[in-house]
Amino acid sequence: MPPGPAPQQMPQRHPIPGVKNLIAVASGKGGVGKTTVAVNLSLALAKLGHKVGLLDADVYGPNVPIMLGSTQEPVATADQHIIPVQAQGVKMISMGLLNPGDKPVIWRGPMLHSIITQFLRSVEWGELDYLVIDLPPGTGDVQLTLIQTVAVTGAVVVTTPSTVALADVRKAIEMFRQVHVDVLGVVENMSTFACPHCGKPVDIFGHGEGTKTAIAYGVPVLGEIEIDPRIRIGGDSGKPVAAAGEAGPAAQSLYKVARAVTARVEELKAAGSSPTFQID
Ligand SMILES: Nc1ncnc2c1ncn2[C@@H]1O[C@H](COP(=O)(O)OP(=O)(O)O)[C@@H](O)[C@H]1O
Ligand SMILES: [Mg+2]
Repeated sequence: MPPGPAPQQMPQRHPIPGVKNLIAVASGKGGVGKTTVAVNLSLALAKLGHKVGLLDADVYGPNVPIMLGSTQEPVATADQHIIPVQAQGVKMISMGLLNPGDKPVIWRGPMLHSIITQFLRSVEWGELDYLVIDLPPGTGDVQLTLIQTVAVTGAVVVTTPSTVALADVRKAIEMFRQVHVDVLGVVENMSTFACPHCGKPVDIFGHGEGTKTAIAYGVPVLGEIEIDPRIRIGGDSGKPVAAAGEAGPAAQSLYKVARAVTARVEELKAAGSSPTFQID
């Protein structure tokens, strides 16, 4: 048999104790709804009966506390471990909880590396079926630190159908491929909009382009999420639409994405390609 890739080239990636599946939510560019998807995905997974944690790794723009409606300060244990806060049935940790207010974070590479490593190593998550990680946009230091430090089960890449967003989604898919992280699939957010006056669909940023890109790159489509003001209001007010359950307003497509994510994780597990960890 020909030799595989030199093992020393890939850093040792460890599981997070107690965490079965680690899902990284990524996007090539900001403002496409990555945090909206990460937060609603976490809530939907929790409502579907899973034990869920949410790590806000967007240290420059930590929006998760606002979207989950929690500004509670996390508690540290005597041995310097961080206890995540509980918000709407999800365990959560965010730089926004440790650095509240409007002070901008100006850390550079090495500091980012250490804070992310600390988040990954020092938070006591307990037992989780899914740890969802909201990554910063792009393909920079935080993403690489994360991918090189822990064994990510798979990545969810969020995009809008617009051409500018799509150019970056290709880069994100390529980055995960290069570092051997499975892409669970692409979510096309802000996919279409139903006109409130006539009900006709209006494709504000286009429609279906994310799906086409996913197909072109051979990665699955996890779902399309419509533009709906209730999704934005839910995030702004700390009551994301998924918190009201699958039958709640504007939540169906987000639950569809959550189900597609669990199905993909199971598929990868069955194929034996994903680093999923059993908790005994
Ligand atoms: N499907 C959607 N419908 C309506 N508003 C949305 C939708 N997805 C995201 N938004 C809004 O768009 C803005 C950017 O979303 P956000 O999740 O913060 O993006 P990112 O994390 O990619 O920067 C937020 O105000 C959010 O509420
Ligand atoms: Mg965000």
